[in-house]
Amino acid sequence: MIKNDISLIKFNRLVFTFVNMAEDLSINTSGNKAEQYQSLVPQIQALVTGETDLVANLGNICAALKEQFSWLWVGFYLVKQGELVLGPFQGPVACTRIAKGRGVCGAAWQQEQTIIVPDVNEFPGHIACSSASVSEIVIPVFNKGEVAGVLDVDSEHAAHFDETDAQYLTEILKLISFNE
Ligand code: SME
Repeated sequence: MIKNDISLIKFNRLVFTFVNMAEDLSINTSGNKAEQYQSLVPQIQALVTGETDLVANLGNICAALKEQFSWLWVGFYLVKQGELVLGPFQGPVACTRIAKGRGVCGAAWQQEQTIIVPDVNEFPGHIACSSASVSEIVIPVFNKGEVAGVLDVDSEHAAHFDETDAQYLTEILKLISFNE
């Protein structure tokens, strides 16, 4: 009986290891930016497929993007009671609440469009959560036609983000399901 129990524990460990191996990312840093996104997007799709918990999926999306691109900061702000509230992120601590129209995040929410900022010093009202941040991209996340939050990415390099980032990040955000 005890022998059978030990075998069962060993078998469960094997299954656990196998299942969790599927969550290791394959990071391709040899290609150009588009190729790196093309390698990452299906992996993010596999990570979020079948998982209905929003925070779990947003957390894994941030982690995958940070692992692939080593950006300074990548994270979500979610619309809660009329303001943006900090959600899952990777990087240094950040400001927790942003009003509609304030900063790059609040502007992307208000305008319901992606904003690419090559130099944050040139953006009136930019909110400096980190003095190391030099350029930024913010993409709205939509749920049933309304902005439910934004994805914010910061870089310590000038003009780091372009239309390629906007295109692929938008594609990634379409994988998010708000059915909770
Ligand atoms: N810079 C953003 C604030 C958020 S932090 O960068 C994480 C803004 O201006 O909205």
